[in-house]
Amino acid sequence: MQNSTLLIEEKVFKDPVHKYIYVQDRPIWDLVNTKEFQRLRRIRQLGTSYLTFHGAEHSRFSHSLGVYEITRKIISQFERGGYPDWPREERLLCLCAALLHDLGHGPFSHSIEKTFAMHHEEWTCRMVLGDTEVNRVLRDIDPSFPDKVAGIICKSYDKEIVVSLVSSQLDADRMDYLLRDGYFTGVNYGTFDLERVLRVIRPHQGHLVVKESGMHAVEDYLMSRYQMYWQIYFHPVTRSAELLLHSIFGRAKVLFEDGYRFAHLPGPIRRLMRRELTVDDYFRLDESLVQSMFQEWTDERDPVLADLCARFLNRRLFKYVPVDPEDRDTIALFLDWMAVKGWDPLYYAQIDFPRDLPYDVYRPGELEGKRPIYLMDDRKELHEISTKSDIVRSISGLHQGRHQLFFPGELLGEPDKPEAIRALLDGSAPSPANP
Ligand code: NI
Repeated sequence: MQNSTLLIEEKVFKDPVHKYIYVQDRPIWDLVNTKEFQRLRRIRQLGTSYLTFHGAEHSRFSHSLGVYEITRKIISQFERGGYPDWPREERLLCLCAALLHDLGHGPFSHSIEKTFAMHHEEWTCRMVLGDTEVNRVLRDIDPSFPDKVAGIICKSYDKEIVVSLVSSQLDADRMDYLLRDGYFTGVNYGTFDLERVLRVIRPHQGHLVVKESGMHAVEDYLMSRYQMYWQIYFHPVTRSAELLLHSIFGRAKVLFEDGYRFAHLPGPIRRLMRRELTVDDYFRLDESLVQSMFQEWTDERDPVLADLCARFLNRRLFKYVPVDPEDRDTIALFLDWMAVKGWDPLYYAQIDFPRDLPYDVYRPGELEGKRPIYLMDDRKELHEISTKSDIVRSISGLHQGRHQLFFPGELLGEPDKPEAIRALLDGSAPSPANP
């Protein structure tokens, strides 16, 4: 069966991170050409980061191909090594899951998900299992394939090693996004020796482990994760844009629930508000739709919604100062004061802390069911990596972030500020978020 699924001629994508991405299997090529997968071209990988790093326009389409390519390389390496612990029959299934793992990401996922209590994994599974082109390609391979792919993505599939290739502390997803996000933001932090990491990963008793001699390559990968977390993912300007989006969706939701009549409200967004979103709507829900909606909303009668959208489109982001969350009196004073000046704190002020991010630095313990990284010594004994590496021990589980208060820049220019507020806002010089 496997042979008949091979393409007559291998397909090759040019890619700035992996140089080339190779497709030999017809189902992979067919999946890439489905409308649901092509939609990922219209979703940015890094959400609002392009407002901080203008190069960060890369899409989830390119990331998904990259995760596929890394998975393909790991599997070829396992096959070449002839490791008995690798279940060879899982190859095509793994490749499909790697390619499709982000299929259900929405536009500016994190803010939309937060406001409307949605989960992209759940939407990925709905698209894989529903009446979609992706579902048809998977069913043509084998009727059990859609369920198995959904199982891998929702981490319920019974072979842990298959799940951990796509989702673990050392998985193809993270390896690709660190390199890709580093490349497109133009920073140098994301780099590590991918080829070397791939060479030292081994299948062992149903899990992925790392050959002890490969420890330094994995240290480099974890350092890159640490740096990217602080320098890119938690950049306060990106957070500021993210919070603005959150305010826009929050305001729109309140207006909708109050029966406000929008001059412009696309069908998928209307059904999102009513919690009646269908798979077909989800297919149309992309960043082009959201951004043109924001354009229209700058003319809405509601002054708050119109103002927030104009701020987002024209990059008039919120300013920020470090704040002590325990200092409740000053915070309350500030919120009252801004309300008197005409700014509704519900939409124009936020206190933010890195803990809320989907990205994280390495943790030596279990994390959402994800095993820590184990090194395997010559006697096949396993050691959690932070017990062997000083570097990993010193960066794992660190939470040195600061709380930041975000607010409209206009408040800085207000004359006659009360003394406590002046002192608070005097900390407002741009402050890097790194520890
Ligand atoms: Ni991903």
